[in-house]
Amino acid sequence: MSEKKTFYITTPIYYPSAKLHIGHAYCTVMADTMTRYKRMQGYETYFLTGSDEHGQKLQRAAQEKGLKPIEYIDPIVESFKSLWKRLYISNDDFIRTTEERHMKVVQDIFKKVYEKGDIYKSQYEGYYCTPCETFFTERQLVDGKNCPDCGRATELVKEESYFFKMSKYQDRLLKHIEDNPDFIQPVSRRNEMINFIKQGLEDLCISRTTFDWGIPVPIDDKHVIYVWFDALTNYISALGYGTDDDSLYQKFWPADIHLVGKDIARFHSIIWPCILMAADVPLPKQVFGHGWVLLDGGKMSKSKGNVVDPNVLLDKYGVDAIRYFLLREIITGNDGIYSEEALVKRINTDLANDFGNLVSRSVAMVDKYFGGIIPEAGQATELDEELKELALATAPKAAEAFDKLAFSEALSTIWQLVGRANKYIDETAPWVLAKDESQKERLGTVLYNLLEVIRIATVLASPAMPLLSGKVSEQIGMDLTNAAWCDGEVWGLTKAGAKVAKKDAIFPRIDPKSLDLPAETKAEVKEEKKEVAKQETKAEITYDDFAKLDLRVAEVLACEKVPDADKLLKFTLKVGEETRTVLSGIAEFYNDPQSLVGKKLVLVANLKPKKIRGIESHGMLLTAAADDDSLLEVLQVYSDVPSGSNVC
Ligand code: MSP
Repeated sequence: MSEKKTFYITTPIYYPSAKLHIGHAYCTVMADTMTRYKRMQGYETYFLTGSDEHGQKLQRAAQEKGLKPIEYIDPIVESFKSLWKRLYISNDDFIRTTEERHMKVVQDIFKKVYEKGDIYKSQYEGYYCTPCETFFTERQLVDGKNCPDCGRATELVKEESYFFKMSKYQDRLLKHIEDNPDFIQPVSRRNEMINFIKQGLEDLCISRTTFDWGIPVPIDDKHVIYVWFDALTNYISALGYGTDDDSLYQKFWPADIHLVGKDIARFHSIIWPCILMAADVPLPKQVFGHGWVLLDGGKMSKSKGNVVDPNVLLDKYGVDAIRYFLLREIITGNDGIYSEEALVKRINTDLANDFGNLVSRSVAMVDKYFGGIIPEAGQATELDEELKELALATAPKAAEAFDKLAFSEALSTIWQLVGRANKYIDETAPWVLAKDESQKERLGTVLYNLLEVIRIATVLASPAMPLLSGKVSEQIGMDLTNAAWCDGEVWGLTKAGAKVAKKDAIFPRIDPKSLDLPAETKAEVKEEKKEVAKQETKAEITYDDFAKLDLRVAEVLACEKVPDADKLLKFTLKVGEETRTVLSGIAEFYNDPQSLVGKKLVLVANLKPKKIRGIESHGMLLTAAADDDSLLEVLQVYSDVPSGSNVC
């Protein structure tokens, strides 16, 4: 008999420096959805999350409250666990880096790498960003003092430290990334990482002496191990790596996916693989760097105090709605915008109108016309065949999307089926059929088909919405709570003769007026803007008109915010042999301009130069923007086409 297929997925272990927000929930919900999907496909899954409890940031946060670090951390970790419970996160383990089982493995790995000769003692002098727990060289700082990742002030650190010979692994890592196209995803992040490595990897400082809230260096207790070296190791310490009971490690390592935010993709796709190579441990199969949940164009952050508490949303809207919204609204890999108006709109449109109404109308008709007993399907018409065909095409298409973590695409595929079924009701008009006794069999067929679509859509959507199958099961007289993915791949499992039960709406509509918003909600304003934008179709042009544009591939050499200009980013671009400066008013969509470095964009190269804020901007970068300006992305070229190449 063949071994059961396994699937191991991890989330980052979150810092217990404050309560979690909707951005953290987003990542964990994605990982959970992926786990549920794989489990339904018959995989033996392992899903790990946890908390990253050491480091200077936490020591200081505790000191400010007059507490010992662990006293400060414990209740916050409890709040993590309680949030995951409320979001129906089905993790197999929750690792805390202060646990003995973890600390021991970190020390063992440190020792192993030291004994191999890849760790040496030297003097560190450089800059440290405590909120990011990251070292920087002076060259990397913004304005000579600020962190390039979070923009906050760094501190000059001079201390004796242990260093990890990361530079030694640079070529091997680059080769691994090049030989394994799926190792870093999405492609944009992969390119960023390749560029970063090509600039040269420096040895990494992996110990600190100026505070003590960390795991002691096993060979020198004056030092504590750098918090990222400590934290990354959780992915194997939780599996019992190097211990007497390493059965989980044997079964599940290497991990299938480390799901992380784009800000920490570098730690996972560069530092972590180098540590693993040094420790002779196989590398994970994939690091997937997802985008951020933004608020009105800016990143949510504990320090800005603009965080959205998932607990409040759960109280108001329930778990399935929140999970559906996050997965459907944000394209995995890109940033997405959270707003309560958009959430309510999704609930009312996709969930209450499309899905909820399909269930309640279908169940009500079985109740009314067949006394609640599910009728048999009779002879299929062309229309029925078409519906069935779409239903059968949905599972493979949704699976293809889930497999690449394209949750929005997967849900949209399932909802196309839901939408088709609603249209089928209008086309078949069961209420007309019901008036004609001779059409009884036809009416039965129509209602059977509707229940069958509901069943299939429920099965396929259930990785995303853990309560859905239970709620639908209660109504359609069939238990879908333990359905396998393959149940959604076939037609005809609904049992004629079973009894439906009318219940309350699965997704009650939310009255937008109940939101604490101005009378004219932002969503409505956006809608109007969209209408205007749609009407503005431009006049027809000839090819010659188009050919006047000189569109070129331009590689970003540097990108930074223009001081005192909220909206402007200043790009230094390489266009063939030429270097250009181009200003673009897109700063609000790129909180981390640095992340654009190395990307290849599309430039209108023959636009007359223009002075903006005293800087000459030569050319214009192409962008794609939502009609309501809620989203914007610079157009990119992902292949090896060199800079300066023509775009047409
Ligand atoms: N402790 C480290 C991770 C160590 S993993 C070995 C850490 N913790 S964190 O709590 O600061 O962030 C954890 C994750 O939350 C990161 O992947 C980060 O990208 C993600 N997010 C934080 N804010 C976010 C949004 N607004 N949106 C989406 N994800 C965001 O880094």
